[in-house]
Amino acid sequence: MDPIASYLIVSLPQSADSRGWLEQSLNGGKSPIIPFKLDEFQIGTLDSLVQESEELSKLDQQLGSSVSKIVDILSSVTETSPTRSVLGKPVLNYIESFSWNTSKYRLDKPIKQLISVIANEAITLDNDVRASYQGYQTAKSNYVAADRKKNGDLSIKSLHDIVKPEQFVLDSDHLTTVLIAVPKNLISDFQHSYETLTDFVIPRSATVVATDSEYTLYTVALFKKYQQEFITGAREHKWHPRTDFVYSEEVLNNLRKEFDLTRANESKTKNDLLRLAKTAYSDILAAWFHIKAIRIYVESILRYGLPPKFDCSLVKFDKTNKNLAKSKKELIEKFGYLGGEAFDKNNANLHEYASLVDTDYEPFVLYEVDIV
Ligand SMILES: *[C@@H]1O[C@H](CO)[C@@H](O)[C@H](O)[C@H]1NC(C)=O
Ligand SMILES: *[C@@H]1O[C@H](CO)[C@@H](O)[C@H](O)[C@H]1NC(C)=O
Repeated sequence: MDPIASYLIVSLPQSADSRGWLEQSLNGGKSPIIPFKLDEFQIGTLDSLVQESEELSKLDQQLGSSVSKIVDILSSVTETSPTRSVLGKPVLNYIESFSWNTSKYRLDKPIKQLISVIANEAITLDNDVRASYQGYQTAKSNYVAADRKKNGDLSIKSLHDIVKPEQFVLDSDHLTTVLIAVPKNLISDFQHSYETLTDFVIPRSATVVATDSEYTLYTVALFKKYQQEFITGAREHKWHPRTDFVYSEEVLNNLRKEFDLTRANESKTKNDLLRLAKTAYSDILAAWFHIKAIRIYVESILRYGLPPKFDCSLVKFDKTNKNLAKSKKELIEKFGYLGGEAFDKNNANLHEYASLVDTDYEPFVLYEVDIV
């Protein structure tokens, strides 16, 4: 699915005089620059930050794909573009006015604990949506099957309310009746050849039971001994023998109930799914951006050191903007030196490690995010 907007998220040391350059020079000054507010988190040891960096990178990806998956589900179930709303706001507003929810996630908690609370909540919701989607798909296919039985053409539909008992030879030791749905264009083939398809077909026994726009349904009487051979021959002629049909009042009643039940269940599971998926979209997207906020903070400290002195901005690109890749290049040209500087100042091993675990690794803190 195409994104509705994309952002570059960039965090730079305050000393780099970055803001003016971003606003005036990046992408010819055409991209909106939106401040992304970061709070102060409880930093543990450097070691723990490195571990968290790895975990945050994974979670960032995981929650991003969870959000996309939910959008896919919503669009496939509603067949329209879903409204994307986060805590009552349009999603892009939520992102552009992001602030840490301090009443939900207290900032005096260690980073590790915050990560695990946010992640567990989001992953539980994600699992709930998947289970609900599975349930809906089962209910839907049961309904589709019941609908085919009730409303399909004569080659597939249930024949219980079409065929009457008196149209069957029901209690003969030797004779039987077969039902054949004959496609419209093969009716004359059928009429010319059914009597001689096997031995012992009762001449002129073919009787029309029903017709629809595709098929005519016939009964043919013949000797039981030739039934199988007749059915095989009918299939070779591309007629559709309805061998699944056995006359029964009970089946007839169940079938009517089945249609009503599966239809009601399809609609109930669909509404449940839609309600859950909308909540999950909102909550998982919010969780995703809380994880991003921690990730940007942790990566900024790992690259720029302590005390934390950096500014984070969103560079916004709408869905038609092709300049994202070019802007990314411009940013790397302008601020790539930060990588070298940090490399000298900090522990070289740390950097090698970070570039191994973080597939988005850039010389400074730079992420691309697509909002689908
Ligand atoms: C913060 O989280 C609480 C609890 O989930 C929620 O009710 C509230 O709307 C959130 N506030 C903001 C500004 O996101
Ligand atoms: C409705 O569908 C769900 C999911 O397929 C299934 O578990 C449940 O038994 C169904 N209920 C009825 C009444 O058919």
